[in-house]
Amino acid sequence: MQRLLDIVNKNFSLQTDLSPIDNKNNSEEDDDSEVPGRKTQYRKLGTFINKATKSCKGDSLYICGTPGTGKTLTLTTLSKNLPKNKYRTIYINCMDFSQASKIYIEIYRRLSNLKSTKKGASESLELIESNFFYDYETDGDQELENLKKKEKTVILILDEVDVLIEKFSSILYRIFEWPTRDSSKLILFGIANDLGLVEKSLPRFAKIGMDIEVLHFEPYVESQILEIFQHRIKRVCKEYGIENEEQKQHLFEPETLEMISKRLASNRCDIRKAFDVIRRLVTLKFEQHIENADCNDSLEEDPNEVIDFEPNQYCFTMELVNEVISEFFESKVVTNMKSLPIHAQLILFSSFLTILNFETLYKSYKNHCSIISFTPMGKSDFSLSIDSIVSNGLMSMNQHKLESGRVIRLLYSKEELSMAFKDSIIFEPILQELNSQ
Ligand SMILES: Nc1ncnc2c1ncn2[C@@H]1O[C@H](COP(=O)(O)OP(=O)(O)O)[C@@H](O)[C@H]1O
Ligand SMILES: [Mg+2]
Repeated sequence: MQRLLDIVNKNFSLQTDLSPIDNKNNSEEDDDSEVPGRKTQYRKLGTFINKATKSCKGDSLYICGTPGTGKTLTLTTLSKNLPKNKYRTIYINCMDFSQASKIYIEIYRRLSNLKSTKKGASESLELIESNFFYDYETDGDQELENLKKKEKTVILILDEVDVLIEKFSSILYRIFEWPTRDSSKLILFGIANDLGLVEKSLPRFAKIGMDIEVLHFEPYVESQILEIFQHRIKRVCKEYGIENEEQKQHLFEPETLEMISKRLASNRCDIRKAFDVIRRLVTLKFEQHIENADCNDSLEEDPNEVIDFEPNQYCFTMELVNEVISEFFESKVVTNMKSLPIHAQLILFSSFLTILNFETLYKSYKNHCSIISFTPMGKSDFSLSIDSIVSNGLMSMNQHKLESGRVIRLLYSKEELSMAFKDSIIFEPILQELNSQ
């Protein structure tokens, strides 16, 4: 078991990621060329590069999205997959520099393939602009044109560019000018977290005739998080040695991953939190494993052994997942539940129905009222209560012209509900019923 848990831990940790290009240790066993959950952006970026390459001119693009939306991963993975004979990539994280102008030195060093350089910032800038990205003296110089065609296209990735936009915009504008130079086959990407900042810088570019496109990375939705999980689990199975499809299904009990993804997405979580959840699962499973091991059992295991799961046996059970979910999300959900008016709380108890819509819920709510001798609200007050539950993030409802036709989804679990009201005297009879289901 320990070997399996170690492998899960490793594959859900951030260190093993496909991050910056220069990381040669990354002899990725990953056969997927695209990034899970980011196929659209991956393809758009690919098309952008192809288009610029075909035109034999430079171009630039902003990539923007909150942290943990896969911006760096998508672009670095794509650049790694580009043919080496046609492209060379220079990845710069703007946050790595104590002085912003040192970015010029680093770009010069990389363009010139030097191990190190004693050149200062302004000299580096001069050299970049005279040797690499310059305007022709005479238009249509055939020799130069031919030379240019043979040169590799440079992909320059300026990551975490927010700091330049905000504080050192002259450096930013200077770099963004390079792709517009005659000799330039530079494709420049500026990756930023703050859309507001990016938008602030656009008019300035427009003034000098540069219309820079912005590619957005929205927070991952449920299906994308699930896709990322499946992608990592595939890697786990490969490394651990589970080849049998049926056995793969025994790592996570059905519905567990869906539940985690749903919760993460409804909280618009950074994907790194998704990995935290899985690593926490591993820790709890490991503790459980040690606790359950007989004193005489040796915890040492054969390094080649692959656990053969029995039917209905799972490595990560729903119970374990619920425990982790309540650890991670409990406070907000539970606080929100507790802050609702009492009738809205009663609605929460009434919502575990196979078909959940306005009508079925109202009926169930009335039943629950009778159990605890409450007078039920009329439909309009009931509707207002549902609105407050939705605005507290505990339910979501699809849009439908008729209130009765709206499908309701729960964003909390039975466990969270019983956790929130475990000491309540009023709800005691309903709680008992809930826990016995
Ligand atoms: N689609 C994805 N599939 C797998 N891992 C991902 C995905 N998106 C992000 N990650 C991982 O999450 C972490 C943060 O992603 P990153 O690309 O650095 O986000 P951003 O640059 O938007 O802040 C990285 O470790 C990355 O490998
Ligand atoms: Mg990043």
